[in-house]
Amino acid sequence: MRVQAFHLGHTYLPEHPVLHDISLDLSPGSLNYLIGPSGSGKSTLMKILFGDEPIQTGQALVGGWSLAHLTDKTRPYYRREVGFVYQDLRLLPAWTAEENVCLPLEAIGRSRRAQRSRAHELLHQVGLGHHLRTPVAQLSGGERQRVAIARALVHNPRFLLADEPTANLDPALSDGVIELLNEQRQRGVTLLISTHDHQLIKLFRSQVYEMRRGIISRHFTSQLGHREGESLSQGAGESSHV
Ligand SMILES: Nc1ncnc2c1ncn2[C@@H]1O[C@H](COP(=O)(O)OP(=O)(O)OP(=O)(O)O)[C@@H](O)[C@H]1O
Ligand SMILES: [Mg+2]
Repeated sequence: MRVQAFHLGHTYLPEHPVLHDISLDLSPGSLNYLIGPSGSGKSTLMKILFGDEPIQTGQALVGGWSLAHLTDKTRPYYRREVGFVYQDLRLLPAWTAEENVCLPLEAIGRSRRAQRSRAHELLHQVGLGHHLRTPVAQLSGGERQRVAIARALVHNPRFLLADEPTANLDPALSDGVIELLNEQRQRGVTLLISTHDHQLIKLFRSQVYEMRRGIISRHFTSQLGHREGESLSQGAGESSHV
């Protein structure tokens, strides 16, 4: 789905704005990165786009949704079309991988059988079919990351946000996580990934938005990635150097 932000501003504490005037336009099925120093506002922008933080100034349109008009009643429906991999994962460590992935389906009243079958499908897809019944506390960092991705995919989102999904992973695992996320584009999913790792953005051709003190200071197309799959090059604009 298409994701547009128009002149977003955001303030947590009076007199300390953290976003100033953020506009962006992500095309359906595109791979987009948010980079920039700690504190520049990446997580804040992602939370606004997920409906976790309210729109204070400006507007954002995601698919047919106007985020400024989200209400407590409509937000859960919006969240079924959008997935979020949190910076701190937010998994329940004592619960198994399967139970963690089932949770969002349980919340909307799906049958146990439907929950389990969806969780198995997703955990196999992310390469964790052998860890369905393993408590998350016993999984490695990379495996936990993949459980969080499986959970974010549970509603078949058309927009997937991942906030530093490769933090604390070694380079090989990081590449694996990005490849897994990138596969979602085959279903037309729009991806927005924040990262501090400048090597990662070279993996696939992508749009890169660099944030600095609450503004987008630079927007460019990353160089052709060294793992570029020909079929996935669509969606990355050619003429957007700013
Ligand atoms: N709930 C909050 N209340 C008050 N200030 C906040 C809150 N969340 C974030 N901030 C402030 O907003 C600014 C931007 O934070 P944000 O988490 O969006 O940055 P970031 O770019 O994601 O940083 P990092 O790379 O470290 O994750 C920071 O100065 C932070 O202290
Ligand atoms: Mg952050």
